[in-house]
Amino acid sequence: MSDPLEQLSQQARDAMPRHVAIIMDGNGRWAKQRRFPRTIGHRRGLESLREVVRTASKLGIEYLTLFTFSAENWNRPKSEVDTIMRYLARFLRTEIPEFNSYNVQLDAIGQIDRLPEKVQNQLAKTKETLSGNDGLTMVLALSYGSRQEILDATRSIAAKVKSGELNPDDIDEAVIANNLYTKDIPDPDLLIRTSGEMRISNFLLWQISYAELVVTDTLWPDFRSPQLFAALEDYAKRHRRFGKV
Ligand code: IPE
Ligand code: IPE
Ligand code: MG
Repeated sequence: MSDPLEQLSQQARDAMPRHVAIIMDGNGRWAKQRRFPRTIGHRRGLESLREVVRTASKLGIEYLTLFTFSAENWNRPKSEVDTIMRYLARFLRTEIPEFNSYNVQLDAIGQIDRLPEKVQNQLAKTKETLSGNDGLTMVLALSYGSRQEILDATRSIAAKVKSGELNPDDIDEAVIANNLYTKDIPDPDLLIRTSGEMRISNFLLWQISYAELVVTDTLWPDFRSPQLFAALEDYAKRHRRFGKV
């Protein structure tokens, strides 16, 4: 592929977001339209993920957070959950050389201890293998729910208050941010949701306070570099005011 930067206007290059977050939705509908089982949609979705990670890393984006499996997705049929977990473990194993060649690092947010051991082990292994890289950080949100994250943070802050380590008057936004799973990650600048749903579905509620939102009707398995470029062009035209004039 040619340099993806050449596919962008000067305006979009100058306004490159530091952190892009994506709600990767629509795998099931993509499959249904083709009379395939939903799991085929998930498999195709991982191909989109692969391409988007590669392109984002070449564009110089620093963080790419991907809503891969929500805390609520555990309520899906067991067979679908099992297949997603199997695909995920395989993806984390087989993509290592690809990620390495683009200098990509890996991080994960969510209730990781709820994942099958096989996925947890592969996650740790892949993370470790890529730990020497210093390019794009791919953050996988796995068994992730924003309310659960805020709950966990509240519990750990309350424990610090109880032990006398923290004074209630000293709880500020930074204290809360530092107790979230995303503590070392800057807030997203751009949030993309595919498949046309106009909702957040319990994703990064605290962190997206001032993110620009782009919703595209494209289903995730059809979301590739051109759709990422379109979202970045859209983002570049926004005027972020952060409550000011
Ligand atoms: C997103 O696609 C993948 C996950 C949530 C795991 P969906 O599986 O939600 O696809 P739709 O929304 O049913 O089309
Ligand atoms: C959000 O998609 C979660 C992921 C993309 C992993 P869902 O398909 O689970 O969300 P809803 O059900 O449309 O809100
Ligand atoms: Mg969905």
